[in-house]
Amino acid sequence: MNSAAKTSGPTILAIANQKGGVAKTTSVASLGAALAELGGRVLLVDLDPQACLTFSLGIDPEDLDLSVHHVLTKGLDPTEVIVTTEDAVDVLPATIELARAEADLLTRTGREYVLKVSLEDLDEYDWVLLDCPPSLGVLTVAALTAAHGVVIPLQCETLSHRGVGQLLDTVHDVRRFTNRGLTVWGVLPTLYDGRTNHARTVLDTISETYDLEVLEPPIPKSIRFAEAPAAGRSILRTTRRHRGADAYREVAKHLVARKEGRTP
Ligand SMILES: Nc1ncnc2c1ncn2[C@@H]1O[C@H](COP(=O)(O)OP(=O)(O)O)[C@@H](O)[C@H]1O
Ligand SMILES: [Mg+2]
Repeated sequence: MNSAAKTSGPTILAIANQKGGVAKTTSVASLGAALAELGGRVLLVDLDPQACLTFSLGIDPEDLDLSVHHVLTKGLDPTEVIVTTEDAVDVLPATIELARAEADLLTRTGREYVLKVSLEDLDEYDWVLLDCPPSLGVLTVAALTAAHGVVIPLQCETLSHRGVGQLLDTVHDVRRFTNRGLTVWGVLPTLYDGRTNHARTVLDTISETYDLEVLEPPIPKSIRFAEAPAAGRSILRTTRRHRGADAYREVAKHLVARKEGRTP
């Protein structure tokens, strides 16, 4: 049986890479919208103090009294903080206060488990996607500890893979100490420019070097993605047919197949 298959409760995926600008947040928003289109009940969790995910879903962090920070450091029930959006997904939003959570948690016993415990009773969701910050700090480790699987967005450029080894070391540590069941679901190639052979070569090198599955198809580079956050809507909602949106839809289908144990 697939280790990710669960009989109840959501499948929790951490979208992680300590490098910034590799489309973690865009992938969380787009995969979330795509999974919702497929009938999934989806919660997105913003774990980045920059709150880009929160903002991209049309929520101004400045308007929020409560955020994920209160869940992590004050033990507030997430259902008191979760916001529903026009994109048919729910979000556990972040504000800049989250920057302090990292320091607050550093001296706390059990800090690695703080997110896992908070998400434990959210049985009303099929999917929880965790938008990790661009670091391998407390919040990313807490996300990996809470997750069943990790998806690694990767920009197909020379040297972009230098951080992957470090991330995999962290995954290895998490597996040893806090979450034995964690599996890497794969690398998601993003900002992909198919006109260059170079991108393809980088991709092949990465999957061989680290023995990682590559989630296909690669997500093409498109100006539409850059425009979406300001609109407060995912491009899956604003643009019906778009090759970038369709690529995320395909990837979402693979995730569903894996959750249902239809792929090895
Ligand atoms: N497929 C894409 N094509 C073009 N721009 C993209 C694409 N995916 C993401 N972007 C843009 O790249 C920037 C970084 O993406 P983001 O999702 O915020 O990355 P991260 O969360 O890893 O820092 C953003 O401005 C975003 O709009
Ligand atoms: Mg981000």
